[in-house]
Amino acid sequence: MTDHNEVKMVEMDYSQARPKAKNPLKIQDLSLRDGHQSLFATRGRTEDMIPVAEQMDEIGFWAVEVWGGASFHTMHRYLNEDPWQRLRTLKRYFKKTPISMLLRGQKLVGYRNYADDLAELFVKKTVENGLDIFRTFDALNDYRNFETVVPVMKECGAHFQGCICYTLTEPRLGKGIYNLDYYVKKAKALEDMGADSICIKDVAGLMAPYDAFELVKALKAEVKPPIHLHSHFTSGMSPMTHLKAVEAGIDIIDTCMTPYAYRTSHAALEPFVMSLLGTNRDTGFDINALTRINETLEKEVIPKYKHLLDDSRVSLIDIDVLLNQAPDFMRANLIKQLREMDALDKIDEVYKELPRVRKELGQIPLVTPTSRIVGTQTVNNVLFDTKEERYKMITAQVKDLCYGLYGKTAVPIDAQLQKKALKDYERGDDPITCRPAEVLTPELEKAREEIGDLAVDEEDLILCALFPVTGKKYLMQKYGKEQVPDAVKPITLEDVKKQEDMIKKAKAGKLIEPVADLPEKSEFARTFNVFVDGECFEVGVDEVGGSPVISYAALAAATPAAPPVASPAPPAAPPAAPAAAPAPKPTPPKSTAAAPKPAAAAGSGTPVLAPMPGMIVKYEKNVGDTVNAGDTVVVIEAMKMENILPATADGTITAINFKSGDSVAKDDVLAIIE
Ligand code: CO
Repeated sequence: MTDHNEVKMVEMDYSQARPKAKNPLKIQDLSLRDGHQSLFATRGRTEDMIPVAEQMDEIGFWAVEVWGGASFHTMHRYLNEDPWQRLRTLKRYFKKTPISMLLRGQKLVGYRNYADDLAELFVKKTVENGLDIFRTFDALNDYRNFETVVPVMKECGAHFQGCICYTLTEPRLGKGIYNLDYYVKKAKALEDMGADSICIKDVAGLMAPYDAFELVKALKAEVKPPIHLHSHFTSGMSPMTHLKAVEAGIDIIDTCMTPYAYRTSHAALEPFVMSLLGTNRDTGFDINALTRINETLEKEVIPKYKHLLDDSRVSLIDIDVLLNQAPDFMRANLIKQLREMDALDKIDEVYKELPRVRKELGQIPLVTPTSRIVGTQTVNNVLFDTKEERYKMITAQVKDLCYGLYGKTAVPIDAQLQKKALKDYERGDDPITCRPAEVLTPELEKAREEIGDLAVDEEDLILCALFPVTGKKYLMQKYGKEQVPDAVKPITLEDVKKQEDMIKKAKAGKLIEPVADLPEKSEFARTFNVFVDGECFEVGVDEVGGSPVISYAALAAATPAAPPVASPAPPAAPPAAPAAAPAPKPTPPKSTAAAPKPAAAAGSGTPVLAPMPGMIVKYEKNVGDTVNAGDTVVVIEAMKMENILPATADGTITAINFKSGDSVAKDDVLAIIE
């Protein structure tokens, strides 16, 4: 019997038009979402997508992915862009190609499960703004977190793509919890939910080619919806994995345009187009048209972003992922977190602790947000645990996970850890087993009250409901109630050219010394850190009368040696002797955009210190409130995880030094108790 999935050459007469393949491989392009997210810190701006959008619309992609959690977050927080506007704009350019997004199930584009009313409105509004395909995943593969959003997608006529997060506990598919049987069962569950297609989502690039072959074969045999593969390049296996998946009959694969491809992103499209040319899986794509798009990207777009590319290593491939199974973005966060805490030397300990924490938390897949939950907790354990006590500082999200607020874990959470995490937990110490959103109270009306007139439409309201602190800040800027900070404004190709010229001069030692009558820095002056060959140049650009003028470029001073890590005060430590004034704060790392710090309060009092750099979410107490040691004083967000900082002594709050939304450095005095 012949295998109908077999890839066969078709007789081709090259003087004739290329015959259409019987079963063309379908392609989703990820350049405008995962591509710039993986390589350029999600900083892609809508204005830089427009120059290629119409050309890309002509290629014949199955879909283009343009939106997701990280883009929604980055746009309003760092790019001064309305995330909804991107959908509306791109929809005008992609007239034939469906637009897709990555939806985190009931977590929407955030890090926790939201109440049903918010989830329903989000999906409805997203379709109204132009979205066609919802690639939907849940970090625990708990599909009860799809139960609210899927019916709304169906009502709105959108395509529901259900994902299975691909993870392993061993080097290859086979044994362990995440075996072939596990994936087939998950696919069947998605089919039963009405999935229009099923995606295997391999964020770390762990899928080996022969495992892909076996897995895709099994899924094609067991379920009807088309099968789609999303496998990152990180480990270097993905092009081989894709090809074996094609041989097993995969329907759709994800790729990027060349400038957005490889490293921690995805395989490039063009080699597939050529590899399959003249076969029964020929994509039918015009390689010349693809080349023209790449040229536009290389000339008009990428120069504005290439400084964001991590080129600290020569290798394009990172095989570490095969050893510790942590996706690249997770490892990047771990490194960033440790660096900000002056504890980068602890990275090996973190990698050692990581599988242990993952296992104790129910052997969960490592994707957003579980990668953050496991990662941040691991760092906390390595930095704050003592010989006598593990899990000394448990994040709010780990407590939520232990309570069941994220859903059901692959294996039960370690009972001892669960008990410890739920001691004094606000929702109670008895974990839930129902669909998480069932215990969440509706939150739209509350958000509406809080934001008031600042939200003009429901899109604004959703933004603030999802991101109360940064969303509100963005709306203040959007509606002219607050000045737009320079740091979020776009740079132009001219800026880039001038910076490059300046650096060339600086490197050749020809940098002109600042003249005596140097114009005064205007209020529009902006500073850029430009990294070249491991050196950092600080470049000042001043916009005078509309055209940017480089006012200086200088080799950035070497960062002073980091002070030795002071052992952080454990948050629940017995009250400190009330006489000591807070210790002087170490200089924050250059990269930390900390708010101006109020002078440390002199005199007596017990400080509540920031154990790590982060952003103040909210104070639970006001000046004048009495507190008992252990009461929550302030919640700080670090690496998107919330840490609850308790009172370190009994007494009265006599000082609150920051406000919601402020950035703080490690050891900043957040409050004083006397
Ligand atoms: Co991805």
